Order: sequence, then C-alpha cells, then structure tokens
Amino acid sequence: MPSPEFRSTSRPPEIDLAIALRRATAGIHAEIEHLPLMSRLTSETVTLDDYRYYLRAILAIHAPLEQTLYARLDASVNERLGVRPKLPALLNDLDEQGLKYNMAVLTVTPAIALPNDLSATIGGLYVLEGATLGGRTIARHLRRLIGEPLGSTRFLDFHGQQTSASWKAFTGALNTLAAQHTLVPDRVIAGALAVFDHVYKRLESSGGA
Ligand code: HEM
Repeated sequence: MPSPEFRSTSRPPEIDLAIALRRATAGIHAEIEHLPLMSRLTSETVTLDDYRYYLRAILAIHAPLEQTLYARLDASVNERLGVRPKLPALLNDLDEQGLKYNMAVLTVTPAIALPNDLSATIGGLYVLEGATLGGRTIARHLRRLIGEPLGSTRFLDFHGQQTSASWKAFTGALNTLAAQHTLVPDRVIAGALAVFDHVYKRLESSGGA
C-alpha cells in the first residue's frame, strides 16, 4: 500500500510559468547578449554613437512588435498584467539624441508571424517586459561610461526603481492566469520563443560590429 505522500491526487501539478519561460528562453537570450550590437553596448569601450545606433535598431524592431502585441490584448488582461507600451519612452530617448524617425514607415513594417491567441501574445509580452531587467543594468553601465550626454534612458530603464516590483507583479499575474487556465503554458512559451527568435534575427541583421 503506498504511503500517504505517494497517493495520487486528481489535481495536476501547478506549473510555475515564469520559471518555465526563463528556462526555455535562456539559450536564445544568451545568444542575443553575444550579438555584436549588444556586445558593443555592454563593453567597456562603448560610445554615445553605439548607444544611438542601438536606439535606431531597437526602434525598428520594437515599434511594430509592440503595436501588434497590444492590438491583440484585451483591456482586462492588460490591466491584470499591469503592462503599458514602452514606445513613448523610446521615442523620448531618440528625441533627446536628436535622432529622426518616420513612424508611418515603422508601423507598416510587417511585425512577426505569431499565432493570434492570447497565450502566444502574452509570451511575446514576456519578452518585451523581461527586457527591462537587463535594460536597467545596461543603462547603469552606459551612464558610468558616457555620463550626461546619454540622456534619460527611459526605454532601457523603463521601470526605474520599480523594476523588481513590476517584474514580480507581471510574473505573478502570469502564474495566476496559467493556474486559472486562461493561458496555455506551452503556447505562451512558443510565443516567447518566436518573439525572441524574431528579435534575434532583426538585431543580427542590424549589424553594429
Ligand atoms: C546586451 C543585451 C542584454 C543583456 C546584458 C541582458 C541582461 C539581462 C539580465 C541581467 C537579466 C536579469 C536576469 C535575472 O534577473 O536573473 C535579463 C532578463 C531578461 N532579458 Fe535580457 N539582456 C539583454 C538583452 C535582452 C533583449 C534584447 C531582450 C528582449 C527583447 C531581453 C529579454 C529579457 C527577458 C525576457 C528577461 C527575463 C528573464 C526571466 O524570465 O527572468 N534581454 N536580461
């Protein structure tokens, strides 16, 4: 007769979706960190021009992607996740650097082939939100080496001192939505991987040796 702790229960084990996402995407995240454009940004010899180059490259990737993801999100899920678009912050940083952009061109750029379901969409948002964790560290690094001309780095340091709290709230909401079966974990992970892959390819083709 099995001991009580080995008796099966009718409930399947809860999945920690946030941890599963981190594990599933760790490899592609590491590859992104090693791309020439990103390596320049985190090097000890980074220049203001490198930062400007990065801002332009990330605008072309981020603007259509964010627009696609938010267009698919309904208001109640958006509120539960506590997310808001980062594009205004990015445009602020470009303006500060005196960099011109054409929004009309950016928003018609085809974004990404991603299944149009809530799980995949939220997988994509995980990528954009998670980027604020490393972004804060990168912003600190740039400020140390470039100083005042860097400007306010609102995009990289999007949540500022609230970075940890925002991330906890976001991942907490992810896990709650998964526990309530509003999200299908495998589809969330597939969405995150598709978006990471898209970002990787676009950053790779942006060059920045
Ligand atoms: C040089 C480039 C980058 C560096 C150095 C970097 C660094 C980091 C660091 C330090 C963390 C926090 C890990 C932790 O708290 O344990 C992180 C998390 C994360 N980053 Fe990056 N990152 C970079 C680029 C990116 C890009 C371009 C994206 C996506 C657009 C991205 C998406 C994420 C995500 C989704 C997480 C959350 C991982 C988790 O689930 O905990 N990162 N990154």
